[in-house]
Amino acid sequence: MPNLAVIGHPVAHSRSPAMQTAALSGLGLAGEWSYGALDVAPADFEAILAELAAAGEYAGVNVTVPHKEAALAMADEATEAARAIGAANTLSFRDGLIVAANTDAGGLLRSLPESLAVSRDMGNGEPDGMRRALVLGAGGAARAAIWALATGEEPDGPQWIPPFAVDVWNRTAERAEGVAAELAAEPVADPTAADYALIVNTTAVGLAGEDPFEHLPLGAESFRPGQVVVDMVYGEEPSPLLAAAAAAGATTVDGLEMLVQQGALSLQIWTGEEPSIEAMRSAVRL
Ligand code: ATR
Repeated sequence: MPNLAVIGHPVAHSRSPAMQTAALSGLGLAGEWSYGALDVAPADFEAILAELAAAGEYAGVNVTVPHKEAALAMADEATEAARAIGAANTLSFRDGLIVAANTDAGGLLRSLPESLAVSRDMGNGEPDGMRRALVLGAGGAARAAIWALATGEEPDGPQWIPPFAVDVWNRTAERAEGVAAELAAEPVADPTAADYALIVNTTAVGLAGEDPFEHLPLGAESFRPGQVVVDMVYGEEPSPLLAAAAAAGATTVDGLEMLVQQGALSLQIWTGEEPSIEAMRSAVRL
């Protein structure tokens, strides 16, 4: 029976087991596959991962905070996205080898609303000039977002997301400069929110109930209709950032939608099947 799990520290709060179990049930695979959670301290990560990969009972794992960089370092093979981002959230065990992918990048692109996609049909293709995106933060989540947005979605469907010109703001400016130089983005010290088609908050601001407008270079009044605002922070209620964006007429995407989309891409890598996004959404929003 192929097992799957999310490995993190701590991991008890993770919604991935409920979400992935619902997805497996929807695919009719719940009897065959299982998805659990493994709390592994950083000091034990390497040994436990090597054991899981060698034992043959696990098909793969999702990896979350704080192990995503270590997961890539342990991999025998890795996708271009995982290498560019410098972190992996999805590992597959194949014949004792560890194969790394990063579905946070694709998950972000898939969570974006249709208003940001363009048709690949003749005529109504590329928007005039590159649209601009602002990424707030310079940690691991920011790297995945910057890479995804600067790369765009692989154009294999009728609709696709063309690459954005990406600006990066971070509280510690030097980190924004370093990440931007590495990932084809531009550092920005004092962004004007209205300039951006898309704003993505990857910082931890809001997680502990902080006022985002005190800590981020945005005002509650800075959003506009037609804009898309993504906040990776999630909780029971819409974050104050998303509440302000919605009140100004912007389209909002929360961290749970990203969790669902990255999880669906991971499950597709392991099982080869496309799970029901609706089943996964209802499992995480319970
Ligand atoms: P992750 O891998 O989840 O992105 P991380 O590497 O710890 O986590 O990064 C956290 C991000 O949130 C950083 O960009 C951090 O800014 P600094 O580089 O200046 O530390 C940002 N962050 C955390 N608390 C913040 C706050 N109160 N105000 C602004 N940014 C904050």
